[in-house]
Amino acid sequence: MVKVTVCGAAGGIGQPLSLLLKQSDLITHLSLYDIVNTPGVAADLSHINTKSKVTGHVGAAQLEEAIKDSAVVVIPAGVPRKPGMTRDDLFKINAGIVRDLAVAAAKFAPKAFMCIISNPVNSTVPIVTEVFKQFNVYDPKRIFGVTTLDIVRASTFVSELIGAEASSLRVPVVGGHSGVTILPLLSQVAGTDKLTQEQLEKVTNRIQFGGDEVVKAKDGAGSATLSMAFAGARFALNVLEASVKGTSNIVECTYVHLDADQAGAKETKSVVGDIDYFSVPVELGPNGVQKILPIGQLSAYEKKLFDAAIPELKGNITKGSAFITEGAKL
Ligand code: 2OP
Repeated sequence: MVKVTVCGAAGGIGQPLSLLLKQSDLITHLSLYDIVNTPGVAADLSHINTKSKVTGHVGAAQLEEAIKDSAVVVIPAGVPRKPGMTRDDLFKINAGIVRDLAVAAAKFAPKAFMCIISNPVNSTVPIVTEVFKQFNVYDPKRIFGVTTLDIVRASTFVSELIGAEASSLRVPVVGGHSGVTILPLLSQVAGTDKLTQEQLEKVTNRIQFGGDEVVKAKDGAGSATLSMAFAGARFALNVLEASVKGTSNIVECTYVHLDADQAGAKETKSVVGDIDYFSVPVELGPNGVQKILPIGQLSAYEKKLFDAAIPELKGNITKGSAFITEGAKL
């Protein structure tokens, strides 16, 4: 049995994400959890003639049955941004939501691969880590912040400039998942040497603030949902492909605790300095993080971007960790 639970399944990201997951033959049970509307979403998806059984679960009283024994828990739950807000502005509401879901996962699916989409990802991943530590079930190889949308955006925007095929253009994006903490490594992409410094800076800024472009265009109706669902499904399915199917050489950039791989952490810290969490290229395997791969060479411009990112990222990490370590006992 391969059970995947989507927490926040009736929301703007959760519904299209669940639809994309319903198409996968790797999943036998798709469990949809939210505080409202999951019976309807589950009934709707259950008519699709793919392999997985779909169940809907509503409210805290049904969280245990929703999450129990899941192989993967994907969390897009929470509130989205409105124009003018940063992802950090969501902390007040989303931190508690992610904490409660992490407590349920730690109790009822402690071996699950946790894929965290809820913002601010830079802080919500440390929240999940600290909850799992408190329940003595912590394994840094199994907790991921989903930054795939930054990679998806980067390949779209860069391909428009250099004339490459977007779906096959791999652009590494490391760091975190908000504004200046998003670090696209364009110097490592073949063809970007044709770009002027002005073009490089413009497209870097567009990747870093791509989420804001969507928030602005939606004009109060939320943030990216469809592209985020695409990215979240790609990441969760790659985790399953590597773990359930045992496919090797699957690499995704994802925001992890660097303890997930000591050797990789050493290499990353030699570039980034001392930091606990970073989005890095990760080779996925049967147990989650198989290997943290090197970040590679940085251009002088990218080094400057790193300098701006690290203090902000460190602050986001401390804020998330402290929410659990200095909060009320779980
Ligand atoms: C974004 O990058 C929603 O964080 C998401 O647009």
